[in-house]
Amino acid sequence: MAIADEYLINAAKDARDNAYSHYSGYAVGAAIIDDQGHLHAGVNVENGAYPLGNCAEAAAIAAMVLEGGKNIVCIAIAGGKGEIAPCVPCGGCRQRIHEFANEDTVIIIMNDSHDWQRYSIAELLPAGFRLD
Ligand code: THU
Repeated sequence: MAIADEYLINAAKDARDNAYSHYSGYAVGAAIIDDQGHLHAGVNVENGAYPLGNCAEAAAIAAMVLEGGKNIVCIAIAGGKGEIAPCVPCGGCRQRIHEFANEDTVIIIMNDSHDWQRYSIAELLPAGFRLD
């Protein structure tokens, strides 16, 4: 695994420790490297009014935008109940990533063998919507 991948995966795992997820028990951390080489992390934040919860990817993207990042070079996602388990981005988050992705963007997710798998946005969201 590339050192940069490992760095980002560890950042996602570290962020996950601070997830606010006690309703589902499913904690998620996401970490982004943007086009300026800056790191941004986010966690899922649930709410007693269940539909108001936010995903970790959305939080990491919001942090990137706040700091002036324009594109996602790489995003790592770590989720699961207790132990880290495969957490592929939900449909909404695939579209959120797509907004800031290009053909070189890498999405890193743990697979069923507990290795980390790299995906492109085209693999996760073929023919994604873009408002041109
Ligand atoms: N969740 C994420 O943070 N990202 C995803 O891509 C999938 C789901 C969160 C939402 C909710 O807080 C918990 O995981 C269980 O669905």
